[in-house]
Amino acid sequence: MLGIENRGFVTGGFVAEKVSKKISVNSNHIEVLAPPERRLLDVLRFDLELMGTKEGCGEGECGACSVIINGEVVNSCLVLFGQIADGDEILTVEGLGDAEHLAPIQQCFIDEVGTQCGICTPGMLISAHALLMKNPNPDRDQVAIAMAGNLCRCTGYKRIIDSVMKAAEILRGEK
Ligand code: FES
Ligand code: FES
Repeated sequence: MLGIENRGFVTGGFVAEKVSKKISVNSNHIEVLAPPERRLLDVLRFDLELMGTKEGCGEGECGACSVIINGEVVNSCLVLFGQIADGDEILTVEGLGDAEHLAPIQQCFIDEVGTQCGICTPGMLISAHALLMKNPNPDRDQVAIAMAGNLCRCTGYKRIIDSVMKAAEILRGEK
């Protein structure tokens, strides 16, 4: 019989058992224990205290919760912890840079006013980072397509695309 410390939280009237995963989060190799039904978004925000990843719609529509798993952008509100495999590599916005050492994409969002209220910004940064890792020389249409899954209610999208284009130039050493 499992001890209470091995039990998860009560969901819909039953108690979910926790499972263990050895994963990399922002290049830190850690072991995470959580119920398989728990959303990756909640594991990141509340179990690992990585609050940079935001929840907007909670339904896979807005992209605010975007993270990168093994190089691919996913909506973490739609991924259950049980779908994560040992060895998976997860990158959240905290892995891009910090207040003292902003990544070029973060600095460009500030410089080009690609952010206003900031709710969409972590997801935008993650999608932009994923694009620039695969395509360091995108045109504006390619940036727009890559960011199509990230909705912003504040800026309009011109300044966001400006931000990504400038970051691409910096990363290519052209600025
Ligand atoms: S919160 Fe996940 S897509 Fe909106
Ligand atoms: S900056 Fe507010 S939703 Fe995008």
